[in-house]
Amino acid sequence: MTDALRSRVRLVEIDRDNWRDVAAVTPRQDQREYVADPTYYMCLSHYGGEWNCLAVELDERTVGHVMWGVEGDEGWIGGLVIDAAHQGRGIGTAAVEAVSEQLAAMDGIRQLALSYEPENTTARRLYARLGFVETGETEGDEIVARRHLA
Ligand SMILES: CC(C)(COP(=O)(O)OP(=O)(O)OC[C@H]1O[C@@H](n2cnc3c(N)ncnc32)[C@H](O)[C@@H]1OP(=O)(O)O)[C@@H](O)C(=O)NCCC(=O)NCCS
Repeated sequence: MTDALRSRVRLVEIDRDNWRDVAAVTPRQDQREYVADPTYYMCLSHYGGEWNCLAVELDERTVGHVMWGVEGDEGWIGGLVIDAAHQGRGIGTAAVEAVSEQLAAMDGIRQLALSYEPENTTARRLYARLGFVETGETEGDEIVARRHLA
């Protein structure tokens, strides 16, 4: 991914102006088993009290969704979905970098964590490239990976 792309990707709060665009974010059909619908994530964030949803924008256009949460000294990343039409350009990587930076800037966060289905090779490679290391732990069917912060 180029620095130029990274600077075009932003994470923004979801509000009355953009929630429909986030709800319209759709992965490929064969990827649906790996994630919930962004609408579900928005409800989880609103009512569940543990996760915080963000829209992923490219040049101020909504192209994805990601969410974050804090548990103890860990910042968790979840619900990453990039719309099928925009995948394979580095946007997912940029979104994980951006949410990682936000979490790393919070007081008391010492490591980042996330989880994914073992057969989700695109996500697995993406997270590994960004320094997430599998710990041997699982969350249900999903592999947990962590990245220590300096
Ligand atoms: C996983 C997901 C978020 C990745 O999003 P993305 O925007 O396609 O991610 P990236 O573009 O950064 O990386 C994906 C691939 O494109 C490649 N790529 C990135 N920029 C590229 C470019 N400019 N040209 C060509 N290829 C590029 C990456 O190297 C990577 O290749 P790989 O799969 O062979 O390792 C997306 O596939 C998705 O939404 N999947 C469904 C939901 C999901 O599984 N979420 C994760 C749950 S844990």
